[in-house]
Amino acid sequence: MNSKENLQIGVLFGGRSGEHEVSLMSARSVLGALDPEKYAIIQIGITHEGTWLAGDNVHEAMLSGNTAQLKPVTYLPDPTRKGLHILRETEHGTVLDHFADIDVFIPVLHGTFGEDGTLQGLFELAGVAYVGAGVLGAAVGMDKAIFKDVMTANGIPVVEGFVVSRGQLQNQPETVLDRAEALGSYPLFTKPANMGSSVGVTKCRNRSDLYEGLLDAARFDRRILIERGINAREIEISVLGNADPIASIPGEIRPAADFYSYEAKYHDDRSELFIPAPIPTETAEWMRATAIRAYRAIDCAGMARVDFLLDRDTGEFYLNEVNTIPGFTQISMYPKLWEASGLPYPQLIDRLIELALERRRERDQTEWRYER
Ligand SMILES: Nc1ncnc2c1ncn2[C@@H]1O[C@H](COP(=O)(O)OP(=O)(O)O)[C@@H](O)[C@H]1O
Ligand SMILES: [Mg+2]
Repeated sequence: MNSKENLQIGVLFGGRSGEHEVSLMSARSVLGALDPEKYAIIQIGITHEGTWLAGDNVHEAMLSGNTAQLKPVTYLPDPTRKGLHILRETEHGTVLDHFADIDVFIPVLHGTFGEDGTLQGLFELAGVAYVGAGVLGAAVGMDKAIFKDVMTANGIPVVEGFVVSRGQLQNQPETVLDRAEALGSYPLFTKPANMGSSVGVTKCRNRSDLYEGLLDAARFDRRILIERGINAREIEISVLGNADPIASIPGEIRPAADFYSYEAKYHDDRSELFIPAPIPTETAEWMRATAIRAYRAIDCAGMARVDFLLDRDTGEFYLNEVNTIPGFTQISMYPKLWEASGLPYPQLIDRLIELALERRRERDQTEWRYER
């Protein structure tokens, strides 16, 4: 059993986003790597509907769908009422029973309602430490459109593109299609501004593809990004830290498919990782410095994976996106790059927990009230 001194770690997984299943895969590895001698681990599964569940063997229950024996729990935004509470139904209504204290949350949740600043908002209100970016970093990292504006403002190159709303697409489809075609020749890429794991991303080869792609992206977000397609090599860098972040060596992904689609990411083991990425040293150094600049520009904390596209035809580099809660399985790029840079998976998790506590202490120095 754990001694009382052990840090209580709340691991959150599942969630309401299209990346629920991916989150379960990442969580399996994180749970396996947390040292039970050091930490008391409290598993919290979030259903597709958004119900938080705790109890015994939560991860297995979430995987199998047999969640009947789990108990609904909640974490209150009131910082004076700390801890995870069970919601117990009684004849007089719902009662809150204290279930566990949480020192640090690890949100192993990709995409909407986990990686986008909303959950981070709850943690901030509650005053509890958590792994990863804060509200702003998470929200800007999640929104591909705003993210590109911030990169451009910082002189970091991004692929040309523009944003349309679902409304514009519904009301003036021809205008949207014309404007998209003015970006350059096909292929063009369409994607939801807020999503991940390539859900809703389409490589469009002609006007009818483009229309289909836009409609598909519009299923997942109110705002849709259209970009010029790059004949791309995909290079990624892991960043770790708060005030003084460090960058890993770069890695390259060679997707088995035509682009790095959902299928290629999770269901096709022919996608290959090259660590380190076979690129010149100066290029690697530029990318590492640029990854850190991007990380700082969006006020990231804890961790992020910074993804670049290298145009095979022109040799130009573009910063594609930042993932503030990157894939975290043992074979995912984020931990693999740290492993290759000398930081094994379990130590990486330890470091992320330290960074979460450090950030909480730093935030606690802020005076929220103005007293004269
Ligand atoms: N402008 C582009 N040119 C070429 N390939 C792209 C472009 N945008 C996206 N892709 C391809 O689609 C994949 C998913 O797009 P990305 O923007 O990274 O969204 P996600 O957050 O879903 O990973 C990329 O890894 C890449 O293979
Ligand atoms: Mg991506």
